[in-house]
Amino acid sequence: MDDLAALRYLVELGADEAIAEAPVDRFSAPPPVEIPAPARPAMRVVAPVSPAIAAPVPAAQAVISARDAAAAANTLDELREALAKFDGCPLKATATNLCFADGNPEAKIMFVGEAPGADEDRQGKPFVGVSGQLLDRMIGFIGLDRNTNAYIANVIPWRPPANRTPTAAEIAACEPFIRRQIELVNPQLLVLVGNISTKTLLGTTDGIIRMRGKWRDYSSPGLKAPIPALPIFHPAYLLRTPAQKRDSWRDLLLLKQRIQMLSK
Ligand code: URA
Repeated sequence: MDDLAALRYLVELGADEAIAEAPVDRFSAPPPVEIPAPARPAMRVVAPVSPAIAAPVPAAQAVISARDAAAAANTLDELREALAKFDGCPLKATATNLCFADGNPEAKIMFVGEAPGADEDRQGKPFVGVSGQLLDRMIGFIGLDRNTNAYIANVIPWRPPANRTPTAAEIAACEPFIRRQIELVNPQLLVLVGNISTKTLLGTTDGIIRMRGKWRDYSSPGLKAPIPALPIFHPAYLLRTPAQKRDSWRDLLLLKQRIQMLSK
C-alpha cells in the first residue's frame, strides 16, 4: 500500500486528525494537578486527568496567566486577541481554528455551550454543526436568532480531539476567558447549554438533569449584578435522547416568558 492509500484507509477507519508527532502512552497515569483557587470563593482541586483522554496538562501557572490575560481585556476584540495568544490550553495545538463567538454581542441573551465540534473547528464559529442547527431551531421557536438577538459562545474555544469531553484542567485554563466574555457582553439573561457550561459557570457538581429548567444567579466579580441563568439540555443530548425534547420545550417556554418580561 502506498502512503496515500494508507492514509485514505486510516481516514475511512475514522482517524480524521493527526493529534501529535509523538506516540502517547495512554496507560501511564498523569499526576493530579492542583488548580489555584478561582476568583469565586470555592477552592477547586482538579481530579487526575483520565489516561484515556490524556493531553498535555496545563500547569497551575496556565490558570493564573489565563486570569491575568482575561482580566486585561477591556473589549471583546481584545479578549479574542488574548485567547489567540494564550498557550495554556493544549487543545489549541490540535484545533484548526479558535471558535470565539457568533451572533450579536449587543444581544440581551447569551448562550454558552461546551466546546466546538468538527464543523465549528473548520468554520471557527460555535454551534454551526448538526447540534448547532438544532439549537437554532430551538431558539427560533421562541423568537431568537443568532443574527439579531442572540450571542453564542462556548466554555472551551478549541475543539477537543475526536470531540471528547474536555478535561478539568482544560476547562480550568479556559474558564477565566468565558467569564470575562460574559462580563464584556453583560447580557440580561444567560442560557447555559448542557452539563459542562452549567457545572463550570454555576460552580455546581449537580448535573444538567437536576439543574435544567430552574433559573439561577450567575455571578462574577466584574459584573455589577448577578445575571439570571437558565441551564438547558444540550442539543447534542436531545439528538441522542429525543424523549427529553418535551422538558427542553418547557425550558424554552420559561426562557420566552422571561424575555417577554425584559422587553416590558
Ligand atoms: N457543542 C457545543 O457545546 N458547542 C459547539 O459550538 C458545538 C457543539
